[in-house]
Amino acid sequence: MKVTLRTLFRKREEGRKITMVSTYDYISARLCQEVGVDCILVGDSLGMVFQGRDSTLHVTLEEMIYHTKAVRRGAPDTFLIVDMPFMSYQVSVEEGIKNCGRVIKETGANAVKLEGGEEIAELVYRLVRIGIPVVGHLGFTPQKINTIGGYRVVGREEEAQRIRQDFKTLEDAGAFMVVLEAVPWQLAKELTHTSRSITVGIGAGPYCHGQVLVFYDIVGLVEDVKPKFVRRYIDGAGLFREALRRFVQDVETGAYPSEEESYG
Ligand code: KIV
Ligand code: NA
Repeated sequence: MKVTLRTLFRKREEGRKITMVSTYDYISARLCQEVGVDCILVGDSLGMVFQGRDSTLHVTLEEMIYHTKAVRRGAPDTFLIVDMPFMSYQVSVEEGIKNCGRVIKETGANAVKLEGGEEIAELVYRLVRIGIPVVGHLGFTPQKINTIGGYRVVGREEEAQRIRQDFKTLEDAGAFMVVLEAVPWQLAKELTHTSRSITVGIGAGPYCHGQVLVFYDIVGLVEDVKPKFVRRYIDGAGLFREALRRFVQDVETGAYPSEEESYG
């Protein structure tokens, strides 16, 4: 069964949690759909996790489209959201509409995600009226890393009021979902309880309507950084390392391949 906007809001109304995984490739997307993940986000975190960059700022629209096509093939029925990369929607409303439209047309994604509040409100309004569902992203917003000054909690003290205002602005513009990243759980709880939209938290505590984590974090493949909110469900890096070690060893000792693994 295809997951749609209606499916997501029905879950919200019934008090059932919404699950989202950020991932970038066909194989992991297939696994997500198989186990019933509601939404896949093709996150621009791929700049760091997939490409090994030190921020998300370098990711291009072409790269997002490339990864989203692969993910869609693996997960044809999952609700698919695409992160719009840095500078693909900030220059002007017209350019933003054109780029978001391109992504939806070329990839088969269901929605776009944009970082920010008041500064993107007009674009959000226009996209929603055209028929492109929009996910907002508030709190720590990686595309503003240079002004925020590093990874940190955003929304303590005076910053909380800004987020409350941005949240309301996004909802008024028509965003159906808002990702809250690295905000105090009390603020996320308050926003969730007063919301019309769906809140999805990452490092935003247990009270959001849904939760999102990056696939490579869930399976323990990211070893260099581990924010407090990441839960690694398996030691993926350890398992992969062990498999690779054995492959190397087997080739070097002649244990792989056997005749049975060869063509006659
Ligand atoms: O890029 C990403 O993966 C994200 C999620 C972590 C919310 O924006
Ligand atoms: Na992102």
